[in-house]
Formats: sequence, structure tokens, C-alpha cells
Amino acid sequence: MTAVAVAGGGLIGLSVAWRAAQRGLTVTVVDDAPGTGASHAAAGMLAPVTEAGYGEEALLQLCLASLERWPAFAADVEAAGGVPVGLRTAGTLVVGFDDDDMRALDALHAFQRELGLAADRLTPRATRRREPSLTPRVRGGLLVPGDQSVDGRSLHAGLLAAARAAGVRLVERRVAGVHVEGGRAAGLLLPSGEVLAADAVVLALGAHSAGLPGVPPLPVRPVKGQILRLAGAADLLRGTVRALVRGRQVYLVPYAGDRLVVGATVEDRGFDATVTAGGVHELLHDAIDVVPEVGELELVETLARWRPGTADNAPLLGPSGLPGLALATGHHRNGVLLAPVTGEILADYLSRGQLPELAAPFTADRFPTDHPPTDPSGSR
Ligand code: GLY
Repeated sequence: MTAVAVAGGGLIGLSVAWRAAQRGLTVTVVDDAPGTGASHAAAGMLAPVTEAGYGEEALLQLCLASLERWPAFAADVEAAGGVPVGLRTAGTLVVGFDDDDMRALDALHAFQRELGLAADRLTPRATRRREPSLTPRVRGGLLVPGDQSVDGRSLHAGLLAAARAAGVRLVERRVAGVHVEGGRAAGLLLPSGEVLAADAVVLALGAHSAGLPGVPPLPVRPVKGQILRLAGAADLLRGTVRALVRGRQVYLVPYAGDRLVVGATVEDRGFDATVTAGGVHELLHDAIDVVPEVGELELVETLARWRPGTADNAPLLGPSGLPGLALATGHHRNGVLLAPVTGEILADYLSRGQLPELAAPFTADRFPTDHPPTDPSGSR
């Protein structure tokens, strides 16, 4: 039976491990602190439409394909893992404040309509009717019914339980590198020098995927995000609110009864984990501008983690340039959303040796490197 070692026990690594185990593969996940990286910080938005960027149509299609899988994925995780994942289907409202914000909102709406995406432009009155806690200074909104959210931390707990129930073994050790033997990935190196041997290796270490010994050069960089969690927000918002606040972006995502996530900064600062006064100030200032009652909530957590960024903001899926090593990384702003489709794509690739058509635009060979990608069995 094919043995697969997955480096990384975040949402992506666990989704791959779980789906691969369901296909009959023998799967081991290696991570010294599973779920404490980007998965721990994620606001949990499942938001292909409001995250869609100009020129990112291929990524949008992948995101929409994953969103379509979310209801069944959430139900499967809940059934197998026994943990409610907090899927919230109330939709997302985008609001703006000044003339520039409203021009940006209209441009976004035109772009969404051009792509055939569901989004309704709302008057200021209709915007506030939808979310009565919004400031009366909001100048208008865009309602995106399809963009949803999930509780990322509960999801991680559920996936871990589901993966274990499917036979996935978790080794709580740091991944020190990929073991290469005879020109192919043959397992994972542990800090003790021990090798966890495998027929195929999956790299799902998020922002830490690049620069690991044994791994070919990868175009993945850390993109820092500072994010806040607040308590006391029961019934404050129906769904996610995203705002353009005089040119800056902020999002407010309700979850778990009375909790609210406010995020997030986007900073190119390497692996700097500092929560800065400026970062927290900016997020709270903008969030309170949008929903004044946020000022009354309890600030219960501030943290910074790193999105795994790539040059085109899309993930790296499948072949890596090293036979036997498959990629499931580079999910940047869409890791939670893309977990279902990534699990399915990698499970297909590992069990059948073929990358599904859906993943073709996301192989690493779209970026120039010295290492042409190959399949995990090394047969091409
Ligand atoms: N998906 C939201 C973020 O990366 O901040």
C-alpha cells in the first residue's frame, strides 16, 4: 500500500491527509504544532467573489469550485470528526465611505457582473437594513450572497479528528527536511536525523514551505497578517462585513456565538511575528468606523501569522520538480476556502498519479525554475 508523508498539519495538510486516507493510502502527518500557523489566525472567510482580484480569473474558478464543495465537506467533517465547524451562509456585505470607496465599489461590482458573479448593489438605506449596526455614515453596499464563512479553529479540530478516524497517523515532530534518495523524495527528515520513509511526500507547510532542505526552489513567501478577536458581539452582525474605509480594507467576521474576527493587515516583512501598536490601531480604528459598537467589545486576542504568498496569489498544486514530492501550498488569502478542493486534487494525484484538469493552471511550472515539475511516481 502506498505510504504518504504529509509535511504540515494545518487545514491544507489535514484535508489532503484525510482525503488520501479515504482513498486507501497509508498517511502520516508530521507537524510539531498542528494548526498553530496560518490556520490558527484565519478569519475563515469562504469568499471567492469578494476576494477576487483583477486578472485572477483562473484562481477565481478554483475558488468557486471549492466553494461548491463546501456544504458537503463541512457535513463530512462534522460527521467524521464530531465537531461543528460553524459554516455560516448569511452572505457578505461590502460597504464604502467616501467618493473613492464608492467608485472602487462600483468598479468591483462591474467586474463581478462581467464574470457573471452574483452581487447586488444596495442603497445606503438597504445596506443598513441588512446590517443595522453599521454606522449611518456608510454610503452604500454590495451584497454578495454566496460568500460565506466557517470557524477555522473548529474546522481544524474537526479535520484532525476526522483524519485520525480515517487512520491518519500524526507525528508531532518538526519537519527538518525532505529525504531525497536516488533523485526522488523518499520521506521526511526529523530533527533527530531519523527518516520517516514514504513512497510519496506532500509539502503543506504554508509559508514555511520554501527553503526546506531537499525541496526544490519554490516561489512561496510569507505575507504577514495581523488579526484581532473580540468577544461580546452576539447578534451584532448577520454575516461578514467587508469595508473600504477611505482606501483601506477591513473585514469583520462573526463566529461562535458572540465572537468577532477583525482583520487583517497585509505586510511583506518576512517571518516577523510582532503584533504592532500601529497594526492593532489601524484595524480597530477602521472596524469601529464601520460598526461603532465594536468599541464596546472585549479585545480577547491579537496575533500575527503568515499567509503563504505566491507571485500570482494562487496556490502551487501537484508536481514539484522533484519526483515523489507533491505540492499543496501557496494558498495565500484563500487557504480555508481552498481546503476541500485541495484535498480532493492531491488525493487524486497521489492515488491515480494524474493531476485533475481543474488543477492544471496551478502547477509550479508556471513560474520559471531550474527544476521542471514531474509526477509523484517519477514516471514523467
Ligand atoms: N483571507 C483573508 C486574509 O488573508 O486576510
